Amino acid sequence: MAEPRAPRKSAADPATRWRELVELVEDARQRYYVRDAAALSDADYDALFRELEELEAAQPELASADSPTQAVGGERSEMFEPVEHLLRMLSLDNAFSSEELAAWSARVERDLGSVPAMLCELKVDGLAVDIVYDRGRLRSLATRGDGRVGEDVTYNVRFMPAIPRTLTGTPEHPVPDLVEVRGEMYFPVADFDALNAEMLALGRSPFANARNAAAGTLRQRVDRREQELAAAKDRASTAIERLRADLDRASRRLELLQLVVHGVGIWQGHEPSRQSEAYAALSGWGLPTSERARVVDDLAGVQAYVDFYGQHRHDVEHEIDGVVVKVDDLATQGRLGSTSRAPRWAIAYKYPPEVVRTRLLDIEVNVGRTGRVTPFAVMAPVKVAGSTVSMATLHNQEEVVRKGVLIGDLVFLRKAGDVIPEVLGPVVEERTGAERSFVMPTHCPSCGTALAPAKEGDVDIRCPNQRSCPSQLRERVFHVASRGALDIEGLGFKAAVALLDDAIVTDEGDVMGLTAEQLRTSSFFTREGVAEGRVLTANAEKLLAELESAKAQPLWRVIVALSIRHVGPTAAQALAREIGDLGVIADSSVERLSAVEGVGPIIAEAVVEWFGVDWHRDVVDKWRLAGVRMVEERVDAGPRPLDGLTVVITGTVDGWSRDGATAAVQELGGKVSGSVSKKTDFVVVGDNPGSKYDKAVDLGRPVLDAAGFGVLLEQGPDAARAAALVPDPGE
Ligand code: IVH
Repeated sequence: MAEPRAPRKSAADPATRWRELVELVEDARQRYYVRDAAALSDADYDALFRELEELEAAQPELASADSPTQAVGGERSEMFEPVEHLLRMLSLDNAFSSEELAAWSARVERDLGSVPAMLCELKVDGLAVDIVYDRGRLRSLATRGDGRVGEDVTYNVRFMPAIPRTLTGTPEHPVPDLVEVRGEMYFPVADFDALNAEMLALGRSPFANARNAAAGTLRQRVDRREQELAAAKDRASTAIERLRADLDRASRRLELLQLVVHGVGIWQGHEPSRQSEAYAALSGWGLPTSERARVVDDLAGVQAYVDFYGQHRHDVEHEIDGVVVKVDDLATQGRLGSTSRAPRWAIAYKYPPEVVRTRLLDIEVNVGRTGRVTPFAVMAPVKVAGSTVSMATLHNQEEVVRKGVLIGDLVFLRKAGDVIPEVLGPVVEERTGAERSFVMPTHCPSCGTALAPAKEGDVDIRCPNQRSCPSQLRERVFHVASRGALDIEGLGFKAAVALLDDAIVTDEGDVMGLTAEQLRTSSFFTREGVAEGRVLTANAEKLLAELESAKAQPLWRVIVALSIRHVGPTAAQALAREIGDLGVIADSSVERLSAVEGVGPIIAEAVVEWFGVDWHRDVVDKWRLAGVRMVEERVDAGPRPLDGLTVVITGTVDGWSRDGATAAVQELGGKVSGSVSKKTDFVVVGDNPGSKYDKAVDLGRPVLDAAGFGVLLEQGPDAARAAALVPDPGE
């Protein structure tokens, strides 16, 4: 659990702890309900609330009528007109595990003598509203408030298409004279990110979650904005424009708010006998009910529903924090009754939280494989969405500033499903003044080299010491073995570190040629032997065998393993498929490479830049020597009439770009070389051919013009020799 604001169980006497808990809970409720800004995570709040309940159960003399355990919701804010609900709006008791759910069901069974049919539905993470329809016409829309009196937000309704203005009865379910409908307003997940981007652009704090967004949206004073707009009409037009934009934004946001109804209060007229029947009636009148509600026969049915939505939590268009289980039969609901706070006929099963709070202990930086220096958050370990998290990337310095987090802050941390953990932002209210800003280091924490952006204006800062920065080396050696590259299980991070520390490898170039003799010199790869002293470990033997098979991996994996910036599996596969030869790729121009489908100019430039570095080429040479695949095996090869031939292209060949001409030769199996020698089969010359033409003549190599080049491609080498400007001496 996130760090509680006060020790969970303090040594204080019960009365003191009770007061402490009441204060904490009240404070959290005030912020949550009145200011739309949660100060505690739901999980922390639930834990405090439960402790308070337990304390009061053990010592009933402590509980007073004004304890928050007796209250339903929040207080009302002065900003809105009060509106009294016709029937009180209750809250729900929670179950946090299958055992607690079973205990609730057992209690219901004990009270009734049997297990009733139960209606399961999603617990929408939004805010509760009460809508009164008088003879089918909307009379009021109100927030829950304290359960008895809510806040009037009816004036917002005309901007809210989700709320029907009138209800139309059906023969089966005529609309009652007076009906009070309860539901949950929510902000759809799909619109939430856009809203927060807009808030940031306006210089306002983003909403921590979709529920706060819904509450902040509904509790806007559109009417006041309209009055202000009217009053400002005489004033400067810029002010009017600003207010108009503000009103526009408010109304556009209200348009996005959605509703799902999940209950009724007053119902004057022919009443339904089941909750599910009430939903059918509400839906028939034009109110939005959930299509996901199901009536089940027993606890196993409830558990199956809970399990299903535990797995499909993020397939729903709104956020959910649990499942609500209700006894379906309304008369039975009446028999079970309610406490002052919550009904006994319903329970909310809560899923593990996906947003928690924890302490940001430090911001450290990591130096990646390509030298990128990334700040990351080090946090007090906290359980979120089922796993314990203590680190999260912060991407770059700008992101740290954008999030506004300081070292020492209490932060909101999110992990939705199996998504990567993300720091959302600070809990500003909890600052003590002792927090400090993160300062991006100016020098590499691994090798001390001055850091710099790769290119001017880049957000990312890099360590330029690519060849020998220990962090980058380790990451690159480890990357060679990664699943997406050559997939060598036996070369994990520890093995990579040991190989470098023992100087068995100096860089990734040495990895593929590793021998048993080399590994025998390392304590990491050896163990006490029978008689001789030390022998290779089973892991070392495994590594050697895996290296052998890795050498035959497809060419694209070899390309990925080289750690060329921007070149991931997609680009590597495109290069391997279209060019198919690492030697050729190494000598290709930016134009040629970016002509490959799936390879843009940025990738092409990164490849050319990479092969322009001598020690990079050494890596490739070492791998070639070790027997690593350098050429793609072509399964779908067409005819290759130029197989084994070497062609030199010089000058501008009419109708061809240099790269186009090169690619055409390579596609037919030929090799394109940069210099003329005795081994050159053809020299293709265009305009301004230069010295290569002279050399071709000197060496008596066949020379082709543009037309002859066409013959070579279309009819093959024999026909081309006949069409050559300088005859083939072999003829
Ligand atoms: S029924 C008397 N059904 O959860 C029963 N409530 O934590 C009252 N909520 O106050 C509520 N989804 O704001 C019900 N399907 C659902 C719900 C739901 C969300 C909210 C509601 C309630 C709160 C209790």
